[in-house]
Amino acid sequence: MKTIKFGIIGAGLMGREFASAAARWSHLPDMQVRPELVAVCDKNPVVLDWYRQNFPYIQSFTTDYRELLASAHVEAVYCAVPHNLHAELYTAIIKAGKHLMGEKPFGIDLSANRAILACLQAHPKVFVRCSSEFPFYPAVQRIGNMIETRAFGRIIEVNNYFLHSSDLDPAKPMNWKRMIEFNGEYGCLGDLGLHVCHVPFRAGWIPKNVRAILSDIVKERPDGKGGHAPCRTWDNATLLCEASDPVSNALFPLTLKTLRIAPGEKDTWSIEILGTKASARFSTKNPKLLQIMEYRGGEQVWQHIDMGHETAFKSITGGIFEFGFSDSILQMWAAFLYELTEAKPMKQFAACVTPDETALSHRLFTAALESQAKQSVVAIK
Ligand SMILES: NC(=O)c1ccc[n+]([C@@H]2O[C@H](COP(=O)([O-])OP(=O)(O)OC[C@H]3O[C@@H](n4cnc5c(N)ncnc54)[C@H](O)[C@@H]3O)[C@@H](O)[C@H]2O)c1
Repeated sequence: MKTIKFGIIGAGLMGREFASAAARWSHLPDMQVRPELVAVCDKNPVVLDWYRQNFPYIQSFTTDYRELLASAHVEAVYCAVPHNLHAELYTAIIKAGKHLMGEKPFGIDLSANRAILACLQAHPKVFVRCSSEFPFYPAVQRIGNMIETRAFGRIIEVNNYFLHSSDLDPAKPMNWKRMIEFNGEYGCLGDLGLHVCHVPFRAGWIPKNVRAILSDIVKERPDGKGGHAPCRTWDNATLLCEASDPVSNALFPLTLKTLRIAPGEKDTWSIEILGTKASARFSTKNPKLLQIMEYRGGEQVWQHIDMGHETAFKSITGGIFEFGFSDSILQMWAAFLYELTEAKPMKQFAACVTPDETALSHRLFTAALESQAKQSVVAIK
């Protein structure tokens, strides 16, 4: 089996998820390639302890990303750092000739994203993708197959939401994801937005324009030091876009919601596609349930299908067993390594976000900020 030697830069929440996925690669019996974690970097040395305890074979630990990038052993890097560092670190990784799995929003703003893509253009041999897990849920894979086979007919409407609610608690202390300097002007859009763009963009449903309504609901939070600090990031965003459907060439409403304050929702990603021949609904709130309605005249009947472990990349897990977030991480990493070694994705919806798709998301989010400021519809350039 081919091995790709990986380094992690930014070893927090998401770095640990990758390390854990790499450690259970044996779940994927058909993969011809596997990641081997050889180096970990975090500027906070305490974060490295978990890796030292759980991965005794890792030889290289550092608090300086330049040291990791100087290592000839490292072939690819997973970089999961705060948004203000994306441009600096992603371009350094690409210039060092390492393949890169980056994190969203893939640059804190449009100009940072453009700098990353320009660097990539100058280093075309480096394989670069951005993380996004939700298309790997079995129900979404099934929906992806329906999109590929044009089963929906003419698209009437698409609604894609990502809903959190822990920020409903005004006593929740500030962290970097709630500070403009680290998270960026996009606020919740930078944090959650790419997740709701991945499937529509991959389907070719390209937004032409946007009317955005953004809300800043909790304006200050405990600073963790006994005081309070202003919380200036957007909490909630609703984007109503006119998108074009490449199958029918018609425009349809595409609604993207990214809410950090959605009462009752812990971490809910959902998609609803309404078409003239079929419609589908899925939400991670009930991760087994796929709802499909096929219309051939006559009664309109929603089927409720219990999805099992029907994954894009074959897993040893029993086919009837339910699928969860850490399974989607494993599948996403399989997609990254598959495309890296095979030079093409396994299928249209079993693939990570491309740099061009991140660029489109930045044009959309930048237009959304303008739409909010002008209270008007803004074209996506
Ligand atoms: N794909 C997803 O589902 C998902 C989920 C959560 C976060 N994210 C994204 O992942 C990225 C990281 O988020 P997180 O939740 O893991 O954050 P985190 O705060 O848990 O981890 C970030 C880590 O980066 C380290 N760091 C900061 N500056 C550094 C530097 N110069 N060099 C090396 N390490 C440095 C921090 O010490 C921290 O340990 C963000 O882009 C975020 O949007 C993605």
